[in-house]
Amino acid sequence: MANNDWMIESSNEAADREPVELHPERPHPARVYDYLLGGNTNFASDRAFAEAALKLNEGTRTTARSNREFLRRAVTFLTRDAGVRQFIDIGTGLPTSPNVHEIAHSIAPGSRVVYTDNDPIVAAHARALLTSEPGTGPTTYIEADLREPATIISQASEILDFSQPVGLLLIAVTHHLKDDEDPHAVVATVVEALPPGSYLALSQITDEFRPEQWHAIEKDFAQRGSVLTPRPREAIERFFAGLEKVDPGLQVVNQWRPEADDVYKDIDAGECSLLGGVARKS
Ligand SMILES: C[S@@+](CC[C@H](N)C(=O)[O-])C[C@H]1O[C@@H](n2cnc3c(N)ncnc32)[C@H](O)[C@@H]1O
Repeated sequence: MANNDWMIESSNEAADREPVELHPERPHPARVYDYLLGGNTNFASDRAFAEAALKLNEGTRTTARSNREFLRRAVTFLTRDAGVRQFIDIGTGLPTSPNVHEIAHSIAPGSRVVYTDNDPIVAAHARALLTSEPGTGPTTYIEADLREPATIISQASEILDFSQPVGLLLIAVTHHLKDDEDPHAVVATVVEALPPGSYLALSQITDEFRPEQWHAIEKDFAQRGSVLTPRPREAIERFFAGLEKVDPGLQVVNQWRPEADDVYKDIDAGECSLLGGVARKS
């Protein structure tokens, strides 16, 4: 692959060229999340759904934003302190600032980033971003589903050097898988394909602190045909099975290596409601 191009790759190149049906009348998880982050890639239905979630749990907006701060610190740690130079970001979401490649490139400009999401709307926006902004390094988008890890591995291994450590980012995505989709096996399959010295950074919504509110939101998602599965700490711990967590281990994400000017470092655990960590494969 050329080393200086923004590229879009897809598990289905023909589908890439077909117009994407946006369904503005239906709330959409990536756009709802975008609204909670303060973005403008969302419609009235997304805003109404987000506002309903905010009524059920007023911390929902803070949850999204503290998650983004965790993502920034985790990618900074991986690039600056762990020397990782290639990333797979699964469930990347709509582009939002700062994107993973921007964080990595600010520290190590040649870093490679493979973005993946299963949502055609995210693909459309990623395509627009990656073709309109000249990059400072090789950044690629693959349209693929976490529930098909073999596809992601096979396509990513054509782009990344799987003899070198990879930073696998599963940030706020595993809660979009149901228990009967065996998310732990899915995550283990991707981790298994990575070479020693690779890292997993993962965050996921927990029901540890505000169970009633989160299970109400889970129900609301289900009624609208979407999945959100808050999990207890023990289930989130298991995503890191066989890996060595870096300090401070699995934490409420705003407490994972907080930095002085983080906006959400002092919010309480219930308001954050995400557990996350970073772990190394030996
Ligand atoms: C809450 S957003 C998180 C975005 C970003 N990772 C972050 O933390 O800011 C969840 C994203 O995961 C994506 N997603 C949900 N289920 C997925 C799946 N099975 N495979 C790939 N992506 C998925 C959604 O489309 C959405 O863009």
